[in-house]
Amino acid sequence: MNRIATILLSALLTAASFLPARAEYVTSAGAGYVPSEQVRESQREFAADRFGIFIHWGIYSMFGQGEWYLNYGPLADEYAKAARGFYPADFNADEWAKAIKGSGARYICFTTRHHDGFSMWHTGQNKYNIVDGTPFRRDVLRELSQACQDNGLKLHLYYSHLDWTRDDYPQGRTGHTTGRDSLRADWQSYRRFMDNQLTELLTGYGPIRAIWFDGYWDHDSDSVPFDWQLESQYALVHSLQPGCLVANNHHEDVKDGEDIQIFERDVPGENTAGYSSQALARLPRETCQTMNGMWGYKVKDTDYKSVDELVALLVRCAGMGANLLLNIGPRPDGRLPEQCLERLQGIGEWLKANGETIYGTEAGDVPPQPWGATTRAGNRLFVHVLRPDSLPAGGTLLLPGINARAARVFHTGEKVRISQGNAGMTLNIDKESAKGPDHIIELTLK
Ligand code: GLC
Repeated sequence: MNRIATILLSALLTAASFLPARAEYVTSAGAGYVPSEQVRESQREFAADRFGIFIHWGIYSMFGQGEWYLNYGPLADEYAKAARGFYPADFNADEWAKAIKGSGARYICFTTRHHDGFSMWHTGQNKYNIVDGTPFRRDVLRELSQACQDNGLKLHLYYSHLDWTRDDYPQGRTGHTTGRDSLRADWQSYRRFMDNQLTELLTGYGPIRAIWFDGYWDHDSDSVPFDWQLESQYALVHSLQPGCLVANNHHEDVKDGEDIQIFERDVPGENTAGYSSQALARLPRETCQTMNGMWGYKVKDTDYKSVDELVALLVRCAGMGANLLLNIGPRPDGRLPEQCLERLQGIGEWLKANGETIYGTEAGDVPPQPWGATTRAGNRLFVHVLRPDSLPAGGTLLLPGINARAARVFHTGEKVRISQGNAGMTLNIDKESAKGPDHIIELTLK
């Protein structure tokens, strides 16, 4: 066996342990939790979707400095006063939904309440919300939920466990200058508040396909582990909407009661950003990533990833059996930034032509490699060459363990030469004709 084949084979063997078993996404994470039939159905549907859009929008958008602005205070009361000036005159949920639908995304995950404690729906739990606390007085979540239903998009809700403004929230490692009185911490009271809010979200806003928790890590450096009592809260979610998926961006191993596994800023199996050392679970996966560098609107950050880069990211996620949850930080006027609209359109055009190699596929037999990734649908294996310059010299690519009947260029139907050997199958790729962002070769497996 030559050197490249050995490297590929060992990569494949290491990868085999973390690839989700084919058609086996719908298992539970731990021993004590068995997902209901409705959850399993949502898991299947979620895994087939492969692409969603994250929306980080709140009063922080007004400052144009990202969603963590309050944390870098001290701003306390001045920040809260900004709510009285929040009037996103151009907000149009239907326009958002149509632009997002056009990108080929199949769901939206919306920040209902971020760490700054401001609720983007008409909560009855306090007045610090979009209807009672701003002159806008419109329940944007209600409008978004309707727009999602009208445009055939599923709705997921981001919900922060952490709150930088409430005294009853037991203070963790962030938000030390946000004006809370830590002596008044009261977990029972805070937990009741959260459960009441979750009940509102899950009973008043139509079908919610997932609750996406975040902020758990605020207590990850406590000397005595903080007990978030997650299982009973997850049970509450499942009891209110039996098909609602529970996700938690805690950066740790999956816990009982969670239905999908989240990765932040990295394709599962990689950890360049430092949030993804958790073990890969046999659950549907999702990687969230920013389009520029920030989640919430940051006026100075114009460093947007190109359409080609975003397509490559989507493909590499799919190659690991994961969805891409791509973020947009809308402007304070309620519009999606032009750069984002352009990218949505570009990805949409690409997915229109290539969607069958992404939607409804599973992780391919060969895990992501420097040259690209593979996805699989039945006996069709799609070899996505994202970087032809990283192919072995001469364009001969050995795929260990693969036994194919035929190979063709997905875009042109042109035949690709294959040769079968003991170590696997070799594809002879014409590097010169490989067109970006993704040169796809479709194999028909024996
Ligand atoms: C991190 C950030 C948060 C952001 C989230 C999105 O947890 O703290 O601001 O909403 O990532 O993945």
